[in-house]
Amino acid sequence: MNLPAMNLHGRSLLKETDLTREEFLELINLAADLRDQKRSGRAGGRLAGRNIALIFEKSSTRTRCAFEVAAYDEGAHVTYLGPDGSHIGGKESVADTARVLGRMYDGIEYRGFAQTTVEALAAHAGVPVWNGLTDTWHPTQMLADILTMADHTTKPLDQITYAYLGDARNNVANSLLVTGALLGMDVRICGPADLQPAADIQQIARDLAAVSGARLTITADVTEAVGGADFVYTDVWLSMGESPDAWADRIKKLLPYQVNDTIMKATGNPDAKFMHCLPALHDRTTRLGAQLHDQYELGALEVTDGVFESDASIVFDQAENRMHTIKAVMVATIGASR
Ligand code: CP
Ligand code: NVA
Repeated sequence: MNLPAMNLHGRSLLKETDLTREEFLELINLAADLRDQKRSGRAGGRLAGRNIALIFEKSSTRTRCAFEVAAYDEGAHVTYLGPDGSHIGGKESVADTARVLGRMYDGIEYRGFAQTTVEALAAHAGVPVWNGLTDTWHPTQMLADILTMADHTTKPLDQITYAYLGDARNNVANSLLVTGALLGMDVRICGPADLQPAADIQQIARDLAAVSGARLTITADVTEAVGGADFVYTDVWLSMGESPDAWADRIKKLLPYQVNDTIMKATGNPDAKFMHCLPALHDRTTRLGAQLHDQYELGALEVTDGVFESDASIVFDQAENRMHTIKAVMVATIGASR
């Protein structure tokens, strides 16, 4: 397979708007191609000889494993630097760490807190840097989510409607807003007024929509948000890095935005699918899930177990697609032409 026509070689992915609409779609196509090849046993070699650093200042299951498996599939080697595994930000500045890692590695993944940290890494590393989630954006998640939507509909992308419910000013909500705006989709972002995207994020999305023809709705009204939706998406109500003290207030504000059977029916679309970036607090089988259910006498948090386990749920397809899309990002930015 040849590399796609786009020229992403040597480039970083720090946020969705680093990509044009065409580049985003070509990455999705490349990921689908790489997925076909892996499934038919033909993966391998496009990242041979490459060394990749994986910096995680927050926990991860999917993103870390996706980078590692994608790298190994294509012949690269990885070094994992966990929250306490390096001097970054402790006794060595981000800029100095970037210059060191850039001398040794061909690409650097970063998951952490401030978007300015990943931007500083990219400014100083001299090699591509990929954002594996910050407080502001989650761009590799978006590639997986759009590929998953495309897998589960026959509609062209610009005819797809998706509704996000819950903490509507977290990284995933921000990213869903600008991604749909970039791609010309019908995007509904729904949460209480004080948990909606910041004004500057909304402006980015409006500017993109003016070019792409996207339809954007930011609302506190659940019925307005989900009517006619092809996909209903939610995320945890408290993100990594936020104080656990905020749970009581968050639960009170967000219970009306819980995804349950009533919400799925309110789409009016019997084929509507449920999406979640994961991890999800959908039952009592986690320490945190059990504790919150007991403490607040809850039936469910952001999604009921019934919806999560239903045929409408495509959350594990999303999770698998993290790997194929992250592989596409690495192949396109640091891969060898074949
Ligand atoms: N969706 C996602 O980023 O999952 P992890 O936190 O497990 O990487
Ligand atoms: N909003 C969540 C996403 C996890 C993948 C968080 O930042 O914790």
